[in-house]
Amino acid sequence: MYRQIVVLTGAGISAESGMSTFRDQHGLWEQHHIEDVATPEGYARDIELVERFYNTRRQQLNSGEVAPNAAHLALVKLEAEFTGELLVITQNVDDLHERAGSKRLLHMHGELAKGRCPQSLQTFVLREPFGVDNCCTCCIPAKRLRPHIVWFGEMPFGMDRIHDALDHCDLFIAIGTSGTVYPAAGFVDSANHHGAQTAEVNLDPADRHSQFQYHFTGKAGEILPQLVEDILAGKVIGSE
Ligand code: APR
Repeated sequence: MYRQIVVLTGAGISAESGMSTFRDQHGLWEQHHIEDVATPEGYARDIELVERFYNTRRQQLNSGEVAPNAAHLALVKLEAEFTGELLVITQNVDDLHERAGSKRLLHMHGELAKGRCPQSLQTFVLREPFGVDNCCTCCIPAKRLRPHIVWFGEMPFGMDRIHDALDHCDLFIAIGTSGTVYPAAGFVDSANHHGAQTAEVNLDPADRHSQFQYHFTGKAGEILPQLVEDILAGKVIGSE
């Protein structure tokens, strides 16, 4: 039986909920230039373009057409019934893990549902789209809220907690991530270095495929329910 499990999720876990991934065919990075909508420089260059990008993604998330899928729910079952330590680290900025019921969750790339004061760094749950009138309440004069998203070139959140969890886990599972963006893409190396078992659940072999000891190829929503059952039954991955 495992003692401490770390799970890393990426856009692929939300794909079956209807959210676009980044690098699949027709993904977000086919429709937008990363440097225009996911960098501080892009935001400084064209604030309205960046606000439209995040307003559109937040609108889709709140449209009522997007809901957690079986993969999110399987992780909630794991959190509820696993007697050891579990930490779910997500690269996703959607709130589907929360809506499914996950509590031990760390958004390392920020959250679509929140804005941040550029001056105080205080975060605010968004009540309206980003725009010139959507300002903080912590400064005088009030400052225009920015997306609470980690852009390329910015430091992800929770890295100390993440490294501590990776140093002590005995199972690391990456779900629905292409393994192309660091530091998340390097978490498997840290887990391997500290002797954890490492498994990948992905539609296609991701960039760091060879670093994982075990591979479950297919849809997360179809694979995770059984994988969680096996873990809760005390089975060691790859044992049969
Ligand atoms: N089940 C499992 N895996 C899936 C599914 C699915 N139903 N659908 C797609 N995938 C896989 C794809 O094969 C791909 O490997 O999910 C992965 C998604 O990869 P990306 O689109 O690159 O998303 P992600 O890895 O989360 O991107 C990491 O890059 O742009 C930045 O900040 C952004 O957090 C994001 C980071």
